[in-house]
Amino acid sequence: MKEIKVGILGFGTIGTGVVKLLLQNSALVTEKLGAKLILKNVVDRDLTADRGVPLAAGILTDDVEKVLSDPEISIIIELIGGYKPAREFILRAIENGKHVVTANKALLAVHGEEIFAAAARKRVEIRYEPAVGGGIPVLSAIKGNMAANNFGSVLGILNGTCNYILTRMTQEGADFDDVLKVAQELGYAEADPTFDINGTDTAHKLCILVSLCFGTRVDLKDIYTEGISSISAVDINYARDFGYKIKLLAIGKRDGDKVEARVHPTMIPINYPMADVDGVFNAIRITGDFVGTVMFYGRGAGMEPTASAVVGDVMAIARNIMVGVSRRSAPLGYQDDKIIELPIKPIGETSSKYYLRFSVVDKPGILAKISGALGENGISIESMVQSASKKGEVVPIVIMTHEAREMDVRKALEKIDSLSITTEKTNLIRIEDALE
Ligand code: HSE
Repeated sequence: MKEIKVGILGFGTIGTGVVKLLLQNSALVTEKLGAKLILKNVVDRDLTADRGVPLAAGILTDDVEKVLSDPEISIIIELIGGYKPAREFILRAIENGKHVVTANKALLAVHGEEIFAAAARKRVEIRYEPAVGGGIPVLSAIKGNMAANNFGSVLGILNGTCNYILTRMTQEGADFDDVLKVAQELGYAEADPTFDINGTDTAHKLCILVSLCFGTRVDLKDIYTEGISSISAVDINYARDFGYKIKLLAIGKRDGDKVEARVHPTMIPINYPMADVDGVFNAIRITGDFVGTVMFYGRGAGMEPTASAVVGDVMAIARNIMVGVSRRSAPLGYQDDKIIELPIKPIGETSSKYYLRFSVVDKPGILAKISGALGENGISIESMVQSASKKGEVVPIVIMTHEAREMDVRKALEKIDSLSITTEKTNLIRIEDALE
């Protein structure tokens, strides 16, 4: 039986998951593939830590050069994460004619063009299903069975850590920092969880999804990105009262010759299927002109789901190796020379409904000033609530607007802040409640 040898770079959480899967489901993988996947080496600087999975002697090594240049190894799995040295290792593997599987969304979002071009020159495959949505096979579906569609939008809950934190804050009133610690222990968070919390990890994934869906290059810097650290229990409770849940949403929309690509906490109606996506689960909702709306749901982070996506990619490459072909489908979904540059709309030009929470001292005329500034900027109020308070106390006023242009909302908030009637920064959360 044919043997296909693979090497793993990085023996962290996901690397451990891949080793575990290859050991536990080895017979099954062989039965499905008709070939044996042989794990020839795992590379890591740490040769002594107990990862809880057995490796035969000689497999774990710190000699990356040996693995990158081993002529027997045809597939390199990069699970180091980050930019350095992952970029260099992937480029060297490609240069040596090896196919690559990577879970590295940060690297692809920033250096994707270089890596894809190198893979095209060497006619090797680069697959990256584990980079978006953990175990959910969404990228394969976009490039595969849904490829015949023009896509109109792609929306996603793409960060397991944030979704886990928001869910526990919503369901139990749990404390942000405590829940983050648990998410780290469960292996959901990035090595530096700042990327999870500030929305950057979600933006990396949106960058990949938008490129694939709309066939465009995306500069990460053009993706407006807000994380979840400004979300408080107060906002979560108001959202509930108004019939919404707060989720960190990645939004990609095609609008003629422009694209919207933004990441921010978003209120979605509680009766939307996405509102039920809780804990570490991710969901991606895509609309295509022929398929309509399709929603993918599954575990978006963690050792085992991500390992499932990694090995799925390895098997896809192995099938091609067995019949002596490669690059049957373009790694970016479109032929390389058909990738275009669609400008991304600045956030000010986007429109949405808004939740605005003003902290004000309860005294006469305040509400008139707020509604006046909103009205002057063409913003219409849909509903409003002010909790009972004693005269002279600080009180939140919550206003839900009709659809408005972000630029106008910002102008109104600037005006309101300049009147010195608010005691802290007004909290703004966008609302997405008109999904077709
Ligand atoms: N830190 C990421 C998350 C891991 O929490 O979703 C999966 O990409």
